[in-house]
Amino acid sequence: MSFNVAIDGPAGAGKSTIARQAAKQLNFIYVDTGAMYRAMALFMLRKGISSEDTKGLEAACKEVDITIEYQNGEQQVILNGENVNGLIRTEEVGKMASAVARNGKIREKLVDLQQKLAKKADVIMDGRDIGTCVLPQADVKIYLTASVEERARRRHKELVERGEDCDIEKIKADIIARDEQDMNREISPLKKAEDAVLLDGSDMTIQEVTEEIIGLCRR
Ligand code: C5P
Repeated sequence: MSFNVAIDGPAGAGKSTIARQAAKQLNFIYVDTGAMYRAMALFMLRKGISSEDTKGLEAACKEVDITIEYQNGEQQVILNGENVNGLIRTEEVGKMASAVARNGKIREKLVDLQQKLAKKADVIMDGRDIGTCVLPQADVKIYLTASVEERARRRHKELVERGEDCDIEKIKADIIARDEQDMNREISPLKKAEDAVLLDGSDMTIQEVTEEIIGLCRR
């Protein structure tokens, strides 16, 4: 039986950085499920399908084959044979991902892939519905959050370091809008699983949160 760790939480809470570090130390595989929704979103954007066009999304979803590979321990998302890792981190793709993630058929397809990955290996998987829907039997469940101000501050710092011009108030507004959409959708909304451990990382360093999670896994 594989050991499964589920980490859910809102955008910008530091899930992926923390999950990646914890996976390295535990020698687990890190599965970033947001990247799968982003790849799906990229496909829809390229096809010019609106996120409001449910029939169009569902028809196009049938043409999508998403697989996961690992290069030097880093997850690579392969969309119909093309490695799209370098193309899915934009704000446009993130917004579209949140919009297409409302669709049940799209979720079904990606949840199936995620469950297969977790069956084969010890994984730390992060997303929005891992503890509630994808891996309800996960050995450890964490709901990681942080204040909107802190999440916006971190995101702003990241973008500035990348040399991108950005306004912190706009980032904050985008984060609030994304949370709103992810928490209030009909299918698999973002919420803390009843048996998940709540961690608020607002006043903790990445290292402290990572250690806390590793401690929960080793208990
Ligand atoms: O985590 P990330 O920002 O990459 O995710 C992009 C979007 O994909 C989220 O805003 C959310 O709407 C969706 N998502 C989801 N379920 C997951 C992972 C991501 O609905 N398990």
